[in-house]
Amino acid sequence: MADTGIESVLSENRVFDPPAPEAVGAPRWLISSMDEYRAMHERSLRDPEGFWGEIARELHWFQPFERVLEFNPPDARWFIGGRTNLCYNCCDRQVDAGLGDQTAIVWEGEPVGADGPEIRRLTYRDLTLETARLANALKSLGVRKGDVVTIYMGMVPELAIACLACARIGAVHSVIFGGFSAGAIVDRVLDADSRVILTCDGAWRRGSVVPLKDNVDAACKTLAEQGHEVSHVLTLRRCNNEIAWHDGRDHDWHEMTRNAGDECPCEPMDSEDMLFLLYTSGSTGKPKGIRHTTAGYMVYTYTTSRYVFNLIPDADQVFWCTADIGWITGHSYIIYGILPNRVPTLMYEGAPNHPAPDRFWEIVERHRVTQFYTAPTAIRAFMKWGDEHPARHDLTSLQVLGTVGEPINPEAWMWYRKHIGRDRCPIVDTWWQTETGGHMITPLPGATPTKPGSCTLPFFGIDAAICDDEGNELPNGSGGLLAIRSPWPSMLRGIHGDRERFIETYWSRFKVEDPRYPSPSSPSPWYFPGDGAKRDSDGYFWIMGRVDDVINVSGHRLGTMEVESALVSHEAVVEAAVVGMPHEIKGTGIAAFCTLSPDHTPDGTEAAEALKDALRAHVASEIGAIAKPDQIRFTDALPKTRSGKIMRRLLRSIAAGEQEVNQDTTTLEDYSVLAKLRESDEG
Ligand code: WT7
Repeated sequence: MADTGIESVLSENRVFDPPAPEAVGAPRWLISSMDEYRAMHERSLRDPEGFWGEIARELHWFQPFERVLEFNPPDARWFIGGRTNLCYNCCDRQVDAGLGDQTAIVWEGEPVGADGPEIRRLTYRDLTLETARLANALKSLGVRKGDVVTIYMGMVPELAIACLACARIGAVHSVIFGGFSAGAIVDRVLDADSRVILTCDGAWRRGSVVPLKDNVDAACKTLAEQGHEVSHVLTLRRCNNEIAWHDGRDHDWHEMTRNAGDECPCEPMDSEDMLFLLYTSGSTGKPKGIRHTTAGYMVYTYTTSRYVFNLIPDADQVFWCTADIGWITGHSYIIYGILPNRVPTLMYEGAPNHPAPDRFWEIVERHRVTQFYTAPTAIRAFMKWGDEHPARHDLTSLQVLGTVGEPINPEAWMWYRKHIGRDRCPIVDTWWQTETGGHMITPLPGATPTKPGSCTLPFFGIDAAICDDEGNELPNGSGGLLAIRSPWPSMLRGIHGDRERFIETYWSRFKVEDPRYPSPSSPSPWYFPGDGAKRDSDGYFWIMGRVDDVINVSGHRLGTMEVESALVSHEAVVEAAVVGMPHEIKGTGIAAFCTLSPDHTPDGTEAAEALKDALRAHVASEIGAIAKPDQIRFTDALPKTRSGKIMRRLLRSIAAGEQEVNQDTTTLEDYSVLAKLRESDEG
């Protein structure tokens, strides 16, 4: 695999068998042996229509589907002819079944007062009512089926209610993570042609207030200058920080929902009607609006939630996913996959270390959390903060632990198992993406023997393989490209407004013919996720990371190009190259190499440091704090090939502090550049 530069270095031999359900206090395992897993997986691939059709019928349909699947690569249609509503399946369906008094959402606020933190519990009835009211408020603002509603809020129950209200009336939501800046709002609102924004005055984060409404105001101003008018901004009061008010455009959330009617029937949506857009970074240019549709996404997130987390209603379970709803993990595993399973979903507003580093464990203890789902970057932070924090708390309620976002290093996996799972709980390391909508390769907690660092085996309906560019399956042990060779219900249906990029990014990599799909409209009939991986002698998958110019920082993707554009938009920077580098907590940090304009070349180390700080702040304001470079180096020139391509692999080894650059440099245009780069001070 010379062109992917993938080399496998891990060798991990530890294997942990799943515990008996009694050992973790689970009533039972829904899938309790590898034989059962294999039989179901085999059937799901042999008869996808039968497999998914049966599961889909467990949910509510206004009109049954006529066919389960039609796939002409890259275009899939699932549950054809059916009409359903995901909000209905999350909320109303439970009320109709007489279960309206059960808890749907448990929420805990960040600030801790004298009587402890604020806690809110919403039943399915509450959620149905609040969702209907907000849906009516949106309608009164002119929001119609198919309109894109932008949501930029903190982690309050109203954020989930906002998503569900859109789903209720068939509006498409586009949630923007509250950590992004005004610039990120501008790009996404423009791309989606959205006219309505839902926000909060502010969001609590580690004891301070993030001024969300100010950011929306700034974005609206820029948008107006570019000829795009945002018609309505609906603001929820949460922090009571001071905000500006624009009469006519601005509306108060509480006032509007108080005056809205309680009844708002769910819109019967076609299976393939769009449910949401979610923006994610790619290797080039602006973020991609990933499109997900209604029924396939509903069925797949429902199924993965159930089997991967072993969700069982009426068994006193409380499911907690620590992600923000602004990421796909929050969409799928705080809201849409969990609510239809009728297990309470816990939402926490703030930071894991506020007011102290044991906040998460306090929450687990207080609410008797049974499933806990987090990211490797968080686990590494817990390790660093010290074993004593989890040790102080009763974590015996936990049944299943999960991780997602990036490959987990075996050391962090072992720490998680010992200090959080107390050597009892199975760990599900779930590999998936914004584009896949739900888990793709993952253990099942009662069936799969696990190995630290491996996401193990494909979920039902997933035909995963390690291939070369010609689609040849590689022998176990060899690194190659991860391929998904058949469609699954929650696959992305496109990149909003960019058909070409959709085909080019995901459906062009494998030069292969597949007799199942005789006339694809894309060069490849198989999906390419952009990851390199290998399988071991047991066929287990080990993800080795991205093969494109995307870096995974704290479990979230950033395009190197996005950060480079942000740097170059600063007056001092002429050219920039950004690469990933090893980082203790984030997994991968960001290293930036910049050439400066002569007028802005700093005079002395102090001035250089000041400029680096200014550049970091600039990137934060252009994209968000998540994109701030960890290391900036100024250099006279960047190493390039004769054709002008920046030699990123070389920069990566310099950023990682490797002494010898044992890479092929024969195409390097200017050898002296290399020596100069090495001398450039890092900071
Ligand atoms: C990329 C997707 C899915 C929600 C979180 C991130 C990496 C994700 C794992 C895992 C190894 C993983 C991949 C993937 N990734 N989960 N369990 N093991 N790598 O979503 O921002 O869409 O990023 O994250 O590289 O392609 P995303």
